[in-house]
Amino acid sequence: MNEFDEMINRSGTNSLKYDFMAIMNAKADATTLPLWVADMDFACPQPILDAIKARTDRKILGYSGHMTGEYFRAIGNWMQRRFNWYVHSSDIFISPGVVPALSNLVRALTSENDGIIIQRPVYYPFTNSIVNNGRKVINNALIEKDGYYTIDFDDLEQKAKDPSTKMMIFCSPHNPVGRVWTEDELRKVGQICLDHDVILVSDEIHFDLISKGHKHIPIDRLFPKENRIITCTAPSKTFNLAGMHTSNIIIKNDEFKKKWSAEVGSSHLGPLSIVALQAAYDESEDWLDQVNDYIDANLDYIGEYIKEFLPKAKYYKPEGTYLAWLNLSAYEKDYKKLSDLMVEEAHVLLDDGHIFGEEGNGFERINAACPRPILKECLDRIALVMNRVFTGNELRDFTYDTPWKTDQDYSTLVSGKKNYLIFLRYYGCTLCQLDLKRLIDRMSEFTEKDTLVSVVLQSDPALIHQQVKESEIPFNLICDPAQKLFQQYYVASGRSIRDSIGRSTLDKIKTANTLGLIHGAYEGNELQYPAVILFNEHGIAEYVHYGKELGDVPSIDEMLAKIGGNKQ
Ligand SMILES: Cc1ncc(COP(=O)(O)O)c(C=O)c1O
Repeated sequence: MNEFDEMINRSGTNSLKYDFMAIMNAKADATTLPLWVADMDFACPQPILDAIKARTDRKILGYSGHMTGEYFRAIGNWMQRRFNWYVHSSDIFISPGVVPALSNLVRALTSENDGIIIQRPVYYPFTNSIVNNGRKVINNALIEKDGYYTIDFDDLEQKAKDPSTKMMIFCSPHNPVGRVWTEDELRKVGQICLDHDVILVSDEIHFDLISKGHKHIPIDRLFPKENRIITCTAPSKTFNLAGMHTSNIIIKNDEFKKKWSAEVGSSHLGPLSIVALQAAYDESEDWLDQVNDYIDANLDYIGEYIKEFLPKAKYYKPEGTYLAWLNLSAYEKDYKKLSDLMVEEAHVLLDDGHIFGEEGNGFERINAACPRPILKECLDRIALVMNRVFTGNELRDFTYDTPWKTDQDYSTLVSGKKNYLIFLRYYGCTLCQLDLKRLIDRMSEFTEKDTLVSVVLQSDPALIHQQVKESEIPFNLICDPAQKLFQQYYVASGRSIRDSIGRSTLDKIKTANTLGLIHGAYEGNELQYPAVILFNEHGIAEYVHYGKELGDVPSIDEMLAKIGGNKQ
C-alpha cells in the first residue's frame, strides 16, 4: 500500500475541513464528504512529527524566538535548492499566515481608495484583503479557453498604468485555475508592474506542489536588481502544516520593511512551528517528491474519470497546486443550484467556483490531496447527480418488460404524449404499495389530462404476474430486476437505513400501517430512492424530482398540478 492511501480519521481533531464544515455550508452534515479547504488528508512527514515530539518532550512551551541561524538557513537553503533563488535572511519576515500578511501588506503599503490588481477567478481572501481595508479591487480577469487560462496582458498594462493603481496581488501558482506561469509570462507581469510603479505582491504559497513537466519560478528571481517585489512563502501547503501558522514573507525594500514592521509590530512563532519548519525544509524533501507523485496521479485520475463518467465537464489538469477546477456548467447552468446539488444531493462539500469571482460561476474546486478512494467516492457522488435528468433534457429511450409483455419500446409507447416515469422500489415494499394504491385511486385524473403513467419497479415480472391481473393495474408497469433503468436514469440509493428515513418516510410508514399494508417479498435494493420525471409531448423533461429519502415521492396532487390539474 502506498503511504498516501492511508485513511486517517480527522473527526474530533478541531479540523476545519471535517469538524467545521458548517462554516462553509450550513447544509453539510455527517454524511458529507469534505474536499474543500486546502489542506491534505495525508499524514505529515515523519521527521516533522518526530521533531514536534522531541520538542514537547522538553515539557515547556514558553515564548520562543525564530531568530536563529538554523531557522533562516533552512528557508534559504530550500529556496536555493528547489528554485535556484537566493533569499537573504534579513529579508525574511514571519507571519502567522499568508492571508493575514496580505492584509498587512495592503494596509502598510497602500492608502484608502488605492486600486489593487487581482486576476479572477482567484483565491477569494485576495478580494477580502482589499475590500475590508477600504481599497479598490481592479480585476484583470484571466482569459479562459477550453479550461486553460492565460493572462490578458493588454488589460493588465492598461490597469497598471492608472495612477491610482498601487499594488498587484499575484497568485503563482494560481489557485484555483492551477496555472504554473511560464518564465515569459512572469517576465511580462513583473515588467508591467515595475514600469508603472505597482508594488508586486506574489503569493507563492503553492510553489512546491507542481505537476510533472512544469517548473515553478519565483517571480522575484527574474528581477534580481529590483526590490519592489514581495514574495509570500510558507511550508504550510507543501508539508500539510497549515495549522502551525507559519509563513515567511520576503521583503527586500528597506522602506517596505519599516512599514511592514510598523504595521505588524513584534511577532513570534510558536515553539512547535519553529521545529516543524526546520524539519520540513531540512529533512522532508523526499516526502515532498513522493506526495507530488501521488497528487499528480490523482489529478490524472480525475481527468480519466471525467472522460468516462462526466463527459460534459471541462477539466484541464492543473500544472500546480492540488486543486482541481471543474467546469460543470454544461450539467447545471444555474451556479446556485449547482452548489445546492453538490451539498444537498451529492453530499460533497467543495469550494463553489463563484466564491472566486463571477468568472468561477458553474465551476467547483475539488481538493485532490486525499487518498484515491476518497477522491473516487467524491467523483462517484458528483457523477451520480450530474448524470441525472435535468429539466430541458431529452428522454433516454429504453426497452422494457412488463409482467405481461416483453421487449416494449418506451418512445413508441409515449410518442407524442405527455408521460410520467415514476421510479419506486419493488412490489412488496409497503411504501410502494401505498404509492401504487394512491396512483390507482386517482389514475383517471391523469388519463383525463392525456398523460401516460409508467411505474418502474425492481420486481421480477413473473412474480408480479402471479400476484395481480393486468386489468387491476391502470398504468404501465415496468419491471427492471437488473436495475438497468434505475442506472440509466441515475436514480440514487441511500447509504444506510438511518440516512434514508426522514420525517416524511416515517409518516408514510405510519399511514401504510394504518391502512393495513403489509410488506411482501423483498425483491431488490431496499435503499433504492424514488424518482419522478414528467416528459412533455416532445420527449423533453418538464418536471424532475429525485427523492432524497425512501418515501420522498411527490403527492398525487403535486404531480397532477404539473400537468395542469388544479388540486395543488
Ligand atoms: C493562494 C493562497 N494563499 C494563501 C492561502 C492561505 O494561507 P495561510 O493559511 O498561510 O493564511 C491559501 C490557502 O488555500 C492559498 O491558496
